Amino acid sequence: MNATAAIGVTGLGVMGRNLARNLARNGYTVAVHNRTAGRTRALMEVYGDEGTFVPAETPEDFVAALERPRRLMIMVQTGEVTDAVIGQFAPLLEPGDMIIDGGGAHFADTRRREAALRARGIHFVGAGVSGGEEGALEGPSIMVGGSSEAYDSLGPMFEAISAKVDGEPCAAHIGSDGAGHFVKMVHNGIEYADMQLIAEAYDLLRQVAGYTPAEIADVFRRWNEGRLGSYLIEITAEVLAHTDPVTGAPFIDVVADAAGQKGTGRWTVQTALDLGSPVTAIAQATFARAASGRRELRAAYSGLPGGTRPPLSRTEAERFTSQVEHALYASKVIAYDQGRQVIQDAAAEYGWKIDLGTVARIWRGGCIIRAAFLDRIRAAYAFDRDLVSLLGEMEFAMEITDAQVPWREIIASAARRGIPVPAFSAALAHYDTLRADRLPAALLQGQRDYFGAHTYRRTDCPGTFHTHWTAPVRSETTA
Ligand code: 6PG
Repeated sequence: MNATAAIGVTGLGVMGRNLARNLARNGYTVAVHNRTAGRTRALMEVYGDEGTFVPAETPEDFVAALERPRRLMIMVQTGEVTDAVIGQFAPLLEPGDMIIDGGGAHFADTRRREAALRARGIHFVGAGVSGGEEGALEGPSIMVGGSSEAYDSLGPMFEAISAKVDGEPCAAHIGSDGAGHFVKMVHNGIEYADMQLIAEAYDLLRQVAGYTPAEIADVFRRWNEGRLGSYLIEITAEVLAHTDPVTGAPFIDVVADAAGQKGTGRWTVQTALDLGSPVTAIAQATFARAASGRRELRAAYSGLPGGTRPPLSRTEAERFTSQVEHALYASKVIAYDQGRQVIQDAAAEYGWKIDLGTVARIWRGGCIIRAAFLDRIRAAYAFDRDLVSLLGEMEFAMEITDAQVPWREIIASAARRGIPVPAFSAALAHYDTLRADRLPAALLQGQRDYFGAHTYRRTDCPGTFHTHWTAPVRSETTA
């Protein structure tokens, strides 16, 4: 077998197959391998003429087909399967070779694998690939971790196959070891929040404005032309405009209202809890999915009293729709700011040097949360690399100020009507928490000191204190 392939892809499920096709279409010689050889043969039969593929039916032939330094991309199930495939190929590689994991691995697994393979002189690169099957074929957003040396070798290839916005590739080196998979995980967390906020906006327009799904589809199409323009808003209009071919009813009305989740949003929340990073909008979106699936619990609550209010007039509905747009936009800014924060908190924790402007730049295209809005974030970081919060950028701050009244009215209206808006509410509560002069956390400290002698600090002098709460009550400095 001549070593002619610039890269190899093992694991030819739809994502792996489409990435291999994308690479071949971009002029790279691509070795292809799959545990069951039938998939390799099928790729060659159907897509073999799209570029230069080198089919290999054994791991040894697959590795032998790779030019040095070898670049071997694995596209298999996360977890044990990935570890098994690494164990199968690593012994066949030499120092300086690269293994790229393009699956959706947990960043902690990627950090572990990178350290173990680095000890053998092999680069392990965790690459978050976003954009689904179509993105993998036509141009994904690729968030690449691992060493900068590996990116020097892989970067041109990934940038060539990635989505492009304004001629710029939506692929970049994010940071060392698990940084790429971490940022992909946060992308998915933001995706959960984005989708939940859109769903809550839909629910309000349906239940309060009294619009039909088709009318709401038109609203989303209109919003897609403005500051909310994004892939998720675009597809929402399509989903809401769709009529179920079986019943002739609006498609949305025949879909079971129990949301699934493969888990990457959950990982974001779990990790943020460990980092002490308040991703409350992402958390509420994740819990909202869980609650929607609790059939028995929902049945127990069903019929219990909630709020009621008369439907709006058509004129009031139009005003309400404008208010929902403000609330959706403001809540989205907060959700993205929370995602930004957890990336910064993780970078500090794990020693990654992550440029948030680069993250925003490569999220502008190819990925699921791609949106015009991300160009604003990219520009904000280009202007001020050390921006502490999106709300530190004047235009975002002005938009949030402009949204204050409608944002609060929408949430109040939903509460009065008994309509759940957990992500809207979490985003507003986060905003109010961070802008508050005094928080009730002071009382928490008093309670904790009372029952657990956990001490507290004072506003008027340094040190930590404990009060003896049983008579005679007295306070003492503990440090
Ligand atoms: C992407 C998508 C992809 C997956 C979602 C859905 O970036 O291409 O986010 O990773 O389709 O994670 O996962 P859930 O089942 O958790 O919604």
